[in-house]
Amino acid sequence: MNRGKLITFEGVDGCGKTTQLRLLERILTTRNTSFVSTREPGGTELGKLIRAALLNVSRHKVEPLSELLLYAADRAQHVQEFVLPNLAAGKIVLSDRFYDATTAYQGYGRGFDLALIQKLNRLATSDLKPDLTLLFDIDVSTGIERIARRGGETANNSDEDKANRLDLEPHEFHERVRQGYLELAKQEPNRFRIIPASGSIEAVRPLVMEALQGIL
Ligand SMILES: Nc1ncnc2c1ncn2[C@@H]1O[C@H](COP(=O)(O)OP(=O)(O)OP(=O)(O)O)[C@@H](O)[C@H]1O
Ligand SMILES: [Mg+2]
Repeated sequence: MNRGKLITFEGVDGCGKTTQLRLLERILTTRNTSFVSTREPGGTELGKLIRAALLNVSRHKVEPLSELLLYAADRAQHVQEFVLPNLAAGKIVLSDRFYDATTAYQGYGRGFDLALIQKLNRLATSDLKPDLTLLFDIDVSTGIERIARRGGETANNSDEDKANRLDLEPHEFHERVRQGYLELAKQEPNRFRIIPASGSIEAVRPLVMEALQGIL
């Protein structure tokens, strides 16, 4: 079957996922590779509404359980409406976060039962797994500093540029998320590539290309 490939970008806030995804898009464009890029939450019209409800700093409270289920709802819509059809069309799908983020943030970060999260992830994705997952690994404090700088530079551009609710979590939360991601990579070494992401944008870029060898 002529199926595309799903490549997901993961890691703590500010590790450089979106930056490196944009750089990869340019390379794929010059190579005439057929690809689409997307993100979670917010990869569909329904998802954009869910993203705004989840991430924008605002007055409403989001209970941890509601948060978990909203991410699952966003993902179910995303997989059915966007990811599966594009894979069926033979495209490379680049996703800025996918279900590992739920395991890392809601599981390791917030403490939801990991077996429950796994079930929910499998339900939301209809058992779809990424062909490759790039894990950008970085010191939590370096990531947070980058986000603080990003906010200063381009504060009015998009919701991405503003501090969001998760960025306001304590250091320990992000540390658990980082360790959770590393644990996931250990459990599935064939699917994950860990990319040391504390170097400059230009230093990280070739590491991404190296990790993609054999898949593109
Ligand atoms: N290797 C790097 N060195 C220094 N700054 C970087 C590097 N990579 C990205 N940045 C900058 O750090 C900020 C955060 O990067 P980016 O938005 O790509 O991270 P992210 O992982 O997508 O974050 P989020 O989890 O919030 O979506 C941006 O201002 C970006 O320009
Ligand atoms: Mg990003």
